[in-house]
Amino acid sequence: MQPVSLTISEGIAHLRIDNPPVNALNQPLRAGLRDAALRIAGMPDVQKVVLSCAGRTFVAGADIRELGAPLEPYLPDVLDLIAGSSVPWIAALHGTVLGGGLELAMACHARIAAPGTRLGLPEVSLGIIPGSGGTVRLPRLVPMSDAIAMVTGGKPVSAEAALAMGLIDRIASGDLQAEAQDMPAPAAPLLDRPVREAGAIDWHAQEQTLRRKSRGAEAPLEALAALRDSAELPARDAMARERERFLRLSVSDQSRALRHVFFAERDAGRSLRDIEAAPADLARVGVIGGGTMGAGIAAALLIAGSSVRLIERDAQAADMAQTRVADLLAASHKRGLLRDLSALERLTTGSDYAALADCPLVIEAVFEDMEVKRQVFTRLDAVMPADAVLATNTSYLDVDTLALTTRDPSRVLGLHFFSPAHVMKLLEVVRGAHTGPRALATAGALARHLRKTAVVAGVCDGFIGNRIMNAYRTDCEFMLEEGALPEQIDRAMEGFGFAMGIYAVQDMSGLDIAWAARKARAATRPADERYAHIADRLCEAGRLGRKAGRGWYDYATGTAQPDPQVAQIIAEESARAGRTRREFSDAQIMDRILSVMQAEGRTILAEGVADSAEDIDVVMVTGYGFPRHKGGPMFLAG
Ligand code: COA
Repeated sequence: MQPVSLTISEGIAHLRIDNPPVNALNQPLRAGLRDAALRIAGMPDVQKVVLSCAGRTFVAGADIRELGAPLEPYLPDVLDLIAGSSVPWIAALHGTVLGGGLELAMACHARIAAPGTRLGLPEVSLGIIPGSGGTVRLPRLVPMSDAIAMVTGGKPVSAEAALAMGLIDRIASGDLQAEAQDMPAPAAPLLDRPVREAGAIDWHAQEQTLRRKSRGAEAPLEALAALRDSAELPARDAMARERERFLRLSVSDQSRALRHVFFAERDAGRSLRDIEAAPADLARVGVIGGGTMGAGIAAALLIAGSSVRLIERDAQAADMAQTRVADLLAASHKRGLLRDLSALERLTTGSDYAALADCPLVIEAVFEDMEVKRQVFTRLDAVMPADAVLATNTSYLDVDTLALTTRDPSRVLGLHFFSPAHVMKLLEVVRGAHTGPRALATAGALARHLRKTAVVAGVCDGFIGNRIMNAYRTDCEFMLEEGALPEQIDRAMEGFGFAMGIYAVQDMSGLDIAWAARKARAATRPADERYAHIADRLCEAGRLGRKAGRGWYDYATGTAQPDPQVAQIIAEESARAGRTRREFSDAQIMDRILSVMQAEGRTILAEGVADSAEDIDVVMVTGYGFPRHKGGPMFLAG
């Protein structure tokens, strides 16, 4: 099938792109567009060209698989042909107009979009910048401050926002094609117009803010520099510089890493989507427990459009849960993530399990304690219809043991949500030894419904993410014994690109849960296993983290400060363990953390706990703050 078709009717050339699934601008499509542009140039009767796309979206970007090894014809040349056409090209947009798709639309002479269209330049999320005139054309259509936000942030904007800033000329009210035909063409060629409102930009301040925000990612800074070029150089020169930057970045390690994560995320959970079994209907979902996790899960479901029955111990706890969910929705609304608060009307709370009987899926999110969860599952088993799927939200408990408390363990699985559950993108789906296809298909459907990235994990202590985190956390404490300090390890991790170091994270979430888990395991720990007592000593001293005003750091001043008492405890424990303290460089610290992550990752793969190395990278990047532009620990292992 040809990716581009051309029909001429009454002096109008209708150019239709059809290159499923997302009309990505691969080589055949670029060649098709070039040929069509050349043909149209030789047709004296054509007065206007309407460019549109079949399928779910206008061009959603360059073909990411071709990045790094571009093939002729190159997109900038094709776009030059279009922009230089003596008859106007009108872009009729729908769906997600992204990357090269938006550059194509901007090379056209006018743009009209169907309602609901989203437009963006997400290149920085792939470690590159627009490479076909995007940074030169965009600030000639929209004010430079908007161009900076779009290109350096990579987030798409709505059709309404695009109209307000000047990126599109009209939003269609009825038939997109017909209205596109009637669009007037602008007078001056875009590249002859001045850049808009560049004088208002403090480039130095912009760069400093961006450098802090990007944590080592280079593409956003290159994007800013390209926009600055377009404000300061003639358009043609700026375009040449943009192309140079694009080509350099497209073969960079960061871009390779980000592309790896892009495809790994799309592949994650594919096995769940491929299951033949029918998933449980998600229109009505039961949630048990209205604490932090339960309320977050309920909020996520409500935001996605489900009705939720939330069950708590008693009426008072149910009321508190209701308030908690309402607060989460209100905060989401305030942040613009939720249109209105009517979602709350789909929430009912109570304490009677009988209310769950018509929910095809129930997610239990009570206190992380096997005995408490066992009681819940025994009660659920009694009231739920035979085909209902029963999920437990747990971060480390044995899903198989829990499943065996029910008559049909095939309908039980684990769902490890991350806090805050209505925000975090990762969902570890724990496939137990008995979990059946319907339960797994339901988890796949749920992830899609909640717009989360599902990764399948087998049953083990901590599944994929917590298991790797526990492994390197343990090793970090060994490094403390051997001479490092918490602030130094955190600095090394932040320098690598983590948003926070391991000790700042522990202080934020509290040290007590891990302490309880260590105490629970103490009896079964082999006597000859190396064990650092530093964290236990901190907990015994009441240093439970931020909530206690002190943990690995002191928070008396409001910010984390290194604390001599912690250094003292570390020195004492070093001596007790008979270690000689030595200097660690930041690079040595990171090498050790990465090699522990990779070793644990390989063990997890060998045990079949993770299905692929890519899945492990997705877990670490989307759930554990591993810098996306580094691709994940397994990617770095090569
Ligand atoms: N190049 C190559 N393949 C692409 C692609 C691209 N630019 N964009 C999407 N795909 C592929 C996906 O890998 C997926 O393939 P699969 O079916 O084999 O898994 C398929 O197209 C559908 O994508 P998916 O993300 O599952 O569909 P969606 O409807 O949820 O989202 C988009 C559609 C366009 C919003 C989303 O795919 C996206 O953001 N793509 C990247 C766009 C981009 O960054 N463009 C700039 C490139 S410079």
